[in-house]
Amino acid sequence: MRLLVIGATGQVAQSLASLNGSEPGLEVVVLGRPQLDVTQPDTIAAAITTNHPDCIVNAAAYTAVDKAEQEIEAAYAVNASGAGHVARCAAAAGRPLIHLSTDYVFDGRKATSYVECDPVNPLNVYGASKEEGERQVRSEHAGALILRTSWVYSVYGSNFVRTMLRLAASNETLKIVGDQTGCPTSANDIARACLACARRLIAEPGNPDLNGIFHFCNDTALTWAQFAERIFDLAGDPAIRETNVERITTEAFGAPAARPANSVLATRKFRDTFGLTPATLQESLQEFFSLYQPS
Ligand SMILES: NC(=O)c1ccc[n+]([C@@H]2O[C@H](COP(=O)([O-])OP(=O)(O)OC[C@H]3O[C@@H](n4cnc5c(N)ncnc54)[C@H](OP(=O)(O)O)[C@@H]3O)[C@@H](O)[C@H]2O)c1
Repeated sequence: MRLLVIGATGQVAQSLASLNGSEPGLEVVVLGRPQLDVTQPDTIAAAITTNHPDCIVNAAAYTAVDKAEQEIEAAYAVNASGAGHVARCAAAAGRPLIHLSTDYVFDGRKATSYVECDPVNPLNVYGASKEEGERQVRSEHAGALILRTSWVYSVYGSNFVRTMLRLAASNETLKIVGDQTGCPTSANDIARACLACARRLIAEPGNPDLNGIFHFCNDTALTWAQFAERIFDLAGDPAIRETNVERITTEAFGAPAARPANSVLATRKFRDTFGLTPATLQESLQEFFSLYQPS
C-alpha cells in the first residue's frame, strides 16, 4: 500500500512518515510545499501522477487558530479551496481520500460529546474555514473520508504538550485555561487511524459505509488545565513534576479567537466501522515521553 500524505512538515504527516516501511509493503510518501502546494492544483495532480498512490491523506492545513482571525484569506485558501483542490484531483485520478478536519467546527454548547451528524457552528475563522473545506471535499469527492480530530500533540513541531514542558522548565506555576474541555489526541494515534481507514478504503472501493465524516480522538476528555497536570505527572524531570497549575478562565486568558467550551468528540462510529479502539490519554502520553527528547 502506497500512501501519499500532504503537509510534510506537519505533526500528523510526520507521524505517518514514521510508519514508512514499518510493515511489509507499506510505503508512505510525504510531500509538502513548495513541491506540493494545495493552493496550486497543478502540483497536486503532478504528485499523484508521479507517485501513483493507493490512497491520499490530506494532512495539510492552516492551523494557526488565533492568527487566522486576521489572515482570513490565507486560512480559507488552504483549509477550504485547497482542500477542495485536493479532493478534485484525487477524484479525477480515481484515488481514495482521507481528509483531516477538526473539533472546532462545533460551537461547544452541547452538554455531551459530539457525534458526526451534530450541526456545525464554528466560533472562529479557522473552524469556519475547515468546515467550508469539509463541504468542498464532500462535493468534489463522493467517496472521501473526513476524519475530525482534536487537540493534536506529538514530538514534532509546536503543540500544547511541548509548550507546557518548555514553560514548566522555567516557571513554578503556570496559569492554564480550565473551562474548555476536549480530547487531546496523539498524532501517532491519528496516523495509525489513517492507516486503518486507508486499508479499508483500498480494499472496499465504493463501500458507502466508509464515506463521509468520522470522529477520532484519544479516549480521555479533560480541560487544558487537567491536561497540563497529566503531562507534568508523567514528566521524567522531578522539577517539572512539581509544577503548579493555576486555573484561569477563557476570558482571562484572552486569546484572539473564540474556542468551544466543549469539543469532546464521540468515537463510536469510528470504532464500530474500523474495529480500532482509541488509546487513552495515559497510553498515548506514555508513548510521547518514550520518544520525546527535550531540545
Ligand atoms: N493541531 C491541532 O491541534 C489540530 C486539532 C484538530 C484538527 N487538526 C487537523 O489535523 C490536521 C493535521 O494537523 P497538524 O497538527 O498535523 O498540522 P500542522 O502541524 O500545523 O501542519 C500543517 C501542515 O500543513 C502544511 N501546509 C500549510 N499550507 C500548505 C499548503 N498551501 N500546501 C501544502 N501544505 C501546506 C504545513 O506546511 P508548511 O511547513 O509549508 O507551512 C504543515 O506541514 C489538519 O487538518 C488540522 O486542521 C489539528
